[in-house]
Amino acid sequence: MSLTLTITDLVDANARIRVLSLAHPSGAPLPLWDAGAHVRVDLGPTGSRAYSLIRWPGDTAPVWHIAVQREDAGDGGSRAMHAFGVGDTIRTDAPKNDFALGDHAGPALLIAGGIGITPLISMATDLAAAGRDFRLVFAARSRAAMAFGDSLVAAFGDRVTLAFDDEAPLDLPALIAGTAPATHLYICGPRGMIDAARAGAGHAGFPAAQVHVELFSNPAREAGDRPFEVELASTGAVFTVPPGRSIIEVLEEGGVDLVYDCQRGDCGICQTDVISGTPDHRDVVLSDAERAAGRVMQICVSRAKSDRLVLDL
Ligand code: FES
Repeated sequence: MSLTLTITDLVDANARIRVLSLAHPSGAPLPLWDAGAHVRVDLGPTGSRAYSLIRWPGDTAPVWHIAVQREDAGDGGSRAMHAFGVGDTIRTDAPKNDFALGDHAGPALLIAGGIGITPLISMATDLAAAGRDFRLVFAARSRAAMAFGDSLVAAFGDRVTLAFDDEAPLDLPALIAGTAPATHLYICGPRGMIDAARAGAGHAGFPAAQVHVELFSNPAREAGDRPFEVELASTGAVFTVPPGRSIIEVLEEGGVDLVYDCQRGDCGICQTDVISGTPDHRDVVLSDAERAAGRVMQICVSRAKSDRLVLDL
């Protein structure tokens, strides 16, 4: 389902993060969603971008809120989002949720890094409304880089802990090691934070079913990225994937039918068998052992260390 929505409000949460409010042009209700859901905004030639929906205590209007961090060195998607004005229309799909709270009865520890706070705002809101036990730990590079910190403390009081890398960095392993065993962990932030939290959770003995992650940020180009070739085992067709483009984008443009969802390396739907070549894994789906084995990869974000990958497609 595709929706055309009107931007009804724009609020800068800090120097780089802007909150967009979206409503149906007629004021009609919007599809319901659960905490952790995201919508994908269609940006035409720039592709599409996923943004988590934000719900604060007391939000009742038929309006969605998303927050966009401007990435000046990025591929232009966030700058395009920041260029919208009140009254402009944008197209989105219906909300999807790969990061749901679930029905367990245990306490929740919400851990956010940077703009990864957005789905966890909604989780904190829903957990508080349900009277469930939770704690929210939110880290940012500095006070200036943190958005929503004061609002979170105002809304959720001493259930919120804020951490600043340039003052007293968050000690994730210690935090997780000191958490009650029945707790479910929800982590959203950059890849390094998710990898560290997962390692800490494994070390502390949390079963994987109690560790829920979402990689915030759309795939980023990394220094040193270079072109590589992808060969399809079924046809022998060869495609070149340049820096700044994903395997999925290049193959789809070439008419290959693919199955995928998040396009940021955290849902696992695009996982593809690797027949030869060495993947450069950039997802948060695979275990260390799977990454080292190199037999599967997430083709929405991962690239190649070898000149060519032969994929089971
Ligand atoms: S589409 Fe979700 S991991 Fe690739």
